[in-house]
Amino acid sequence: MEDRKPRLLLGVTGCIAAYKSVELLRFLQKASAEVRVVMTESATEFVGPATFEALTGAPVGTGLFRSAVDPIPHIALAEWCDGFVIAPCTANVMAKLAHGIADDLLTSTALACMAPLMVAPAMNVHMYENAATQANLALLKERGLYIIEPDSGYLACGDVGPGRLPEPAELAQRVMALVQESLAGELAHAEAVQDLADAKVVITAGPTREPIDEVRYLSNYSSGKMGYSLAEAARDRGAAVTLVSGPVSLSCPEGVERVMVTTAQEMLEATMEAAQDAAIVICTAAVADYRPAQVADHKLKKGQDDEALSRLQLVENPDILKTVAQAAGSDQTVVGFAAETDSVVDYGREKLAAKGADLIVANEVGPQKGFGQDTNEVTLISAQGEQSLPSMPKRQLADVIFDAILELRG
Ligand code: PMT
Repeated sequence: MEDRKPRLLLGVTGCIAAYKSVELLRFLQKASAEVRVVMTESATEFVGPATFEALTGAPVGTGLFRSAVDPIPHIALAEWCDGFVIAPCTANVMAKLAHGIADDLLTSTALACMAPLMVAPAMNVHMYENAATQANLALLKERGLYIIEPDSGYLACGDVGPGRLPEPAELAQRVMALVQESLAGELAHAEAVQDLADAKVVITAGPTREPIDEVRYLSNYSSGKMGYSLAEAARDRGAAVTLVSGPVSLSCPEGVERVMVTTAQEMLEATMEAAQDAAIVICTAAVADYRPAQVADHKLKKGQDDEALSRLQLVENPDILKTVAQAAGSDQTVVGFAAETDSVVDYGREKLAAKGADLIVANEVGPQKGFGQDTNEVTLISAQGEQSLPSMPKRQLADVIFDAILELRG
């Protein structure tokens, strides 16, 4: 990227907090961003476009047609910006974003925008807590949008609760941090050695959940961080990445195809399908080895279903790593992890043979170790030998693992 100021598009929607967008704009400018503004029609009822035009020195987009911004304003703005922050974002605009509705300049630009989209909801507490709004929020988070949660407090309508737009100074700080992080990632991405270009890499990540009844399940503490770091590293090195993920709260890394699954059986099916034409398959997921033999179709109740609750019958789950390794061709590299609480390297060696993997990444797990942490300490085990690595951030470790895989592939 050429040396220039970060370009931010500020979207303003029709909410009483729209006046705070003016201050937000000033803080963003003070933090060295070049800012342009796009408004919904309703937003102009709260703050005039002239205010933003005077402060940015650029035309403010409100309509899709006869725009002073560009003949095709939504594409021009989407391509111009390094980040698009919608603050305040009303429940209505959030619903449109969640469902791909693009009926004005702001929502059309959001749909066309490839840069990080940041949304700062602000509304009445009951509108915010409404199940429809919460479902839309969950959908946006799931798709990788950055949600800047509202503050809780006394709202303009007199109600008290979550729904307040955070203070502009704090908002600006968070927006700038996100954009700078994204720009740094883009730079690293552009500079990364493209030694996985044209390769398809499949990665399993996160835990599986094995249902017991309508409300309970068996699972573990995997956060998905290790698998998602591997997905980012593979993408940065040019691979086409499919991430088969159990339930986690992480956003899908940009440029990665993600398949969400819940159970081990679902993970097996998704992995086997994706693995067919993959060069590398890495099983990072913490798959439940067993699942309940029967799933009750109602909540098992204390006092009524004591027998079922106290004697949970389990059956073995399919072994995804082993199944992938057995089906793999000679040009495919299959990598597994070994999560152990003791004798990590010995068990790791056993798993290399038992699962038929080309490489095992053995790590110790336990309280404050492995699961959920940002760092990991592993030993790489292959037929060629073992390499113990110091503790390092999972994203950095991901690159070391790919270096080892590429060395194995020759
Ligand atoms: O997600 P994080 O919070 O970042 O934590 C990362 C991690 C600790 C989950 C990760 O580093 C890790 O160790 N993953 C493997 C967890 C695991 O299930 O290990 P295991 O030793 O039980 O299984 C060995 C291998 O077989 C693993 O590659 C596993 O994905 C695979 N397996 C296990 C059981 C099964 N039914 N199918 C499988 O494919």
